[in-house]
Amino acid sequence: MDDQFDLVVIGGGPGGYPAAIRAAQNGLNVALVEGKEMGGTCLNRGCIPTKTLIANANVLKQAEDAEEFGILTGGITFDYGRMVDRKDRVVGKIRKGVEGLMASNKITLIRGWAEYLSPTEIKVKLANGEDKIIHANKSVIATGSEPREIPAFKVDGAKVHDSTTVLNLKALPKKMVIIGGGIIGCEFASLFKTLDVEVVVVEMLPTLLPLEAKSVSDAIMKHFMKQGIKYFVGTLVERLEHQGDQIEIVLGNGEKVTTDMALVAVGRSLNTNKVGLDKAGVHVNEKGFVLTNEHMETNVPGIYAVGDIASKWWLAHVATHQGIVAGDHAAGIDATMHYEAVPSVIYTTPEIATVGLSLEQAIEKEHDASVSMFPYQAIGKAQAENHTDGFAQIVWDKKTGAVIGAQIVGHDAGTLIAEMTLAIQNELTIESVTETIHAHPTIAEIWLEAALQAHEKPLHMPPRRKAS
Ligand code: NAI
Repeated sequence: MDDQFDLVVIGGGPGGYPAAIRAAQNGLNVALVEGKEMGGTCLNRGCIPTKTLIANANVLKQAEDAEEFGILTGGITFDYGRMVDRKDRVVGKIRKGVEGLMASNKITLIRGWAEYLSPTEIKVKLANGEDKIIHANKSVIATGSEPREIPAFKVDGAKVHDSTTVLNLKALPKKMVIIGGGIIGCEFASLFKTLDVEVVVVEMLPTLLPLEAKSVSDAIMKHFMKQGIKYFVGTLVERLEHQGDQIEIVLGNGEKVTTDMALVAVGRSLNTNKVGLDKAGVHVNEKGFVLTNEHMETNVPGIYAVGDIASKWWLAHVATHQGIVAGDHAAGIDATMHYEAVPSVIYTTPEIATVGLSLEQAIEKEHDASVSMFPYQAIGKAQAENHTDGFAQIVWDKKTGAVIGAQIVGHDAGTLIAEMTLAIQNELTIESVTETIHAHPTIAEIWLEAALQAHEKPLHMPPRRKAS
């Protein structure tokens, strides 16, 4: 059986389904092919399930801290199995919503695995084993990534997990060693520590979160130490050995760490090798990324690529934006992708959010840059809520006053970064921030104070002593 569409999207994650919706909104006849659940890694095995588990853990933490607020709770216990059930309910509800959006936008959802036969012809292996051939002059590849497999760290889903299998634990171990201190490793470290698991993180580079600004990596290491999360940095994990019921983690320096369970979080690999890119004539670079122009179009006119496979930004919201650009451009609208203001949120305790340049990157790019910092402690709303740990900082260009970066470590950092994202996207200055009335009492006042700090005129901070 053959079918003809204007545009076919391969992959139903946060890159693919927005591309399909936007193309359909633009009047194209669209099909979307997905082999697993709609919503991709983000909805089913990433952002949403992890953030739901983290939300559960945060409620536990609030309950444990209740006495500070005059609330006496008595002994607090929790049932991890019920936390996991709640995570599955939240994911299921959102997945239904996404499937509903496909139907309401009249997108044909085809369940199966797609492979190009030519630039305009795609074979879909359906769940019932049959092949379906579909034709479209235009297509979007949005096949994403999955946890990187390393033979020395064989994931068995019982004692050794990756970021997918660990989501389905029914009970928590006493001790968890996490291999890799990147975003995934650090988020799970915070989650499991809040749930009273003994956590050890091993990272081969010299800091945790090695890709972040130094002030951010330093802050998370300080907080982890304070919270009792043990970590080794500059330490390679060589291999894992099963010793009865336990796992031995063999480090590069010959030391061994014994644990009940291990989580492998050493990066992800791209899903580009099973889609028949060669038959479509689509080029990938030596790292496996599909090369695109600023419209997300590959070297083959009419074939687009979005999401993890298409840029170094492995973030759901970047994929979504790229999907919208592809869905517009495929319909003849002159849409382009920009990356100057990409926010990124790391859901550790405390939360971390960044956008634009760090001070180190700004100096490297030859900006005459400065950084203005303000602590949560001096913000009234942070005191009221007992969220006094952390800081916000703005990186700005001293010549133009332009805001070029921001980092925030502290409560609700992920929500708060939106203001700086808008500022950078619209090339606003430090003065634009100081001239903006910030509602009181809110933690967002931290940006106003950090901006005032740029000219050494913060309100809620004593003047710096001048050298006499
Ligand atoms: P990652 O590349 O950020 O971190 C992996 C870490 O493992 C690296 O720091 C690396 O040095 C270390 N490592 C590798 N081999 C090792 C070994 N043998 N021994 C010790 N350390 C070793 O990858 P991660 O954390 O798996 O995340 C993958 C991607 O997913 C990230 O790029 C991120 O953008 C995305 N992501 C984003 C989230 C968010 O935005 N909140 C949440 C989760 C993932």
